[in-house]
Amino acid sequence: MYIYGLALKEVEKKIDIIRYDYEYFNKYDSIDHVMTRIKSPESILNKLKKDEMEPTYKNLVSDINDVAGIRIICPLKSDIFTIRKYIREFNDINVIKEKDFVTHPKESGYTSYHMVVKVPVAIDNDISMVKVEIQIRSLAMDFWASLEHKIYYKFEGDAPDYISRDLRECAEMVSTLDEKMLSLNEAIQECLEKQEELNMSTKTKESNRQDQRVLQGLD
Ligand code: GTP
Ligand code: MG
Repeated sequence: MYIYGLALKEVEKKIDIIRYDYEYFNKYDSIDHVMTRIKSPESILNKLKKDEMEPTYKNLVSDINDVAGIRIICPLKSDIFTIRKYIREFNDINVIKEKDFVTHPKESGYTSYHMVVKVPVAIDNDISMVKVEIQIRSLAMDFWASLEHKIYYKFEGDAPDYISRDLRECAEMVSTLDEKMLSLNEAIQECLEKQEELNMSTKTKESNRQDQRVLQGLD
């Protein structure tokens, strides 16, 4: 667990770099917040049992991708793909698996972008590549997933039909909300750019006028 904890810290450092870099050059924070967790021994044993594997350390390392888990919550849906791009570009992060539930939501309505990566961790003069699961989702997606997890996921697929149906309906509302926020953000950006252009041209006209006055010897 100690080694997985170190791996999480490595990934957290990278996420901090992404955040700093993107904000510096774009004047926009593409990450709302980040959450990390280490899977509990109970959940690890349950997962191995579910996959019909002996509870050995070797099986834990090979079978379980999410002993170390990090969740990145972004303001907008488009931020998810920005962060994915950054993660893919790090030379010392090895992406071994990706699942795009944003473009292809799960049957439940669940949306998120999943990556399983391997990061180098130094232990006793040795470097080990350790697996970390990264989930990237928008605030709206996180709202749905967190609530759904509380009220449904625990049924392990045996919830009454009407509950699953209603949850899928809520997922569609969340997706509409995400799209609306995205287009609203674009509209706001356009509006600001136009205002900026207008300010610039007013300033240019004003300084031209001043130049002319100087040339005419009025000032
Ligand atoms: P498991 O880790 O055993 O689930 O197998 P997997 O790696 O094939 O699963 P997957 O990549 O589909 O999902 C891994 C994680 O995504 C889960 O541990 C949850 O955190 C989240 N997840 C997946 N499906 C759902 C869902 O329907 N609802 C919610 N709330 N979370 C989900
Ligand atoms: Mg899992």
